[in-house]
Amino acid sequence: MSEKILVLGANGNVGRPLVQALLAKGERVKAASRSGTAIGGAEGAVFDYDKPETFATAFDGVDRAYVLLPGGNVNSRELLTPVIEALAARKVKVVLQTALGVDADDSIPYRQVELALERSGTPCVILRPNWFADNFHNFWLGGILQGNIALPAGEGKTSFIDVRDIAASAAAVLTTHRFDGQAFNLTGATAHSYAEAATLIGSTIDKPVRYTAIDDETFVRNMVQIGLSEAYARFLAMIFYPVREGWTAAVNDTVQTLTGQPARSLQDYLRDHVRDLKG
Ligand SMILES: NC(=O)c1ccc[n+]([C@@H]2O[C@H](COP(=O)([O-])OP(=O)(O)OC[C@H]3O[C@@H](n4cnc5c(N)ncnc54)[C@H](OP(=O)(O)O)[C@@H]3O)[C@@H](O)[C@H]2O)c1
Repeated sequence: MSEKILVLGANGNVGRPLVQALLAKGERVKAASRSGTAIGGAEGAVFDYDKPETFATAFDGVDRAYVLLPGGNVNSRELLTPVIEALAARKVKVVLQTALGVDADDSIPYRQVELALERSGTPCVILRPNWFADNFHNFWLGGILQGNIALPAGEGKTSFIDVRDIAASAAAVLTTHRFDGQAFNLTGATAHSYAEAATLIGSTIDKPVRYTAIDDETFVRNMVQIGLSEAYARFLAMIFYPVREGWTAAVNDTVQTLTGQPARSLQDYLRDHVRDLKG
């Protein structure tokens, strides 16, 4: 493996620590963003899912690529499939980030993207992370600052994963052939309900934070009010169903298997993000 690794979404939650992890392993990295600016010491590359004319230059000199759907989008099949086809035509190894549970049914759009990748014949690995711990200082920060995280999560537990562990797992599978052809569910070290998470966040930032279980319609209204599109808010509401059912509570040791290090706990994440959680 001597050519460059392309990281799509390199400015994002997973992309930034992934670029750092790959550079630390001595890899040559093309960090893709819509602006094409250099990121964290890696070469910048212009890439826009909506502009296929950016693909060829971004893919030039690349033998491996990390592919993910930028947050805020719901059209995974339409955006990701052409990118995967173009990479596969060049025999580029693709590591695809989807989400825990998408393999529950082959009609799920994200699963159809996974199947298209598997059938493409190009070397590949699929990573399916659970809900990110980092959502607390991104999506849910407004609620934390008001002392109330209101979500349609019921009492369900989730093994929240730190994006640094997703990035370390991605860096591992991008730099060996050992895991090619496999799909991995990635979880954090421990599962917590949102009520437990709220209590832990409160003691981390030294301020009372509670959790309120709300219905889907209230959630969608709240999310639209803070600027999310209604389509994305409805998509988020839909994916809280598996949380309420307890399907996101599973804990596995895949991060350890892939990286040699155990996954971080929610407490580890909170300890490292005190400033972010204070807003
Ligand atoms: N959040 C969760 O709990 C969770 C759980 C499981 C799976 N996931 C999956 O993870 C994905 C998000 O990963 P993430 O949070 O690392 O991504 P992200 O931070 O939301 O987005 C990554 C980057 O994509 C770039 N981008 C936006 N629109 C683009 C476009 N049209 N073309 C090219 N680049 C574009 C943006 O950078 P520039 O503006 O610099 O271009 C952005 O920084 C979600 O789609 C979801 O399916 C999320």
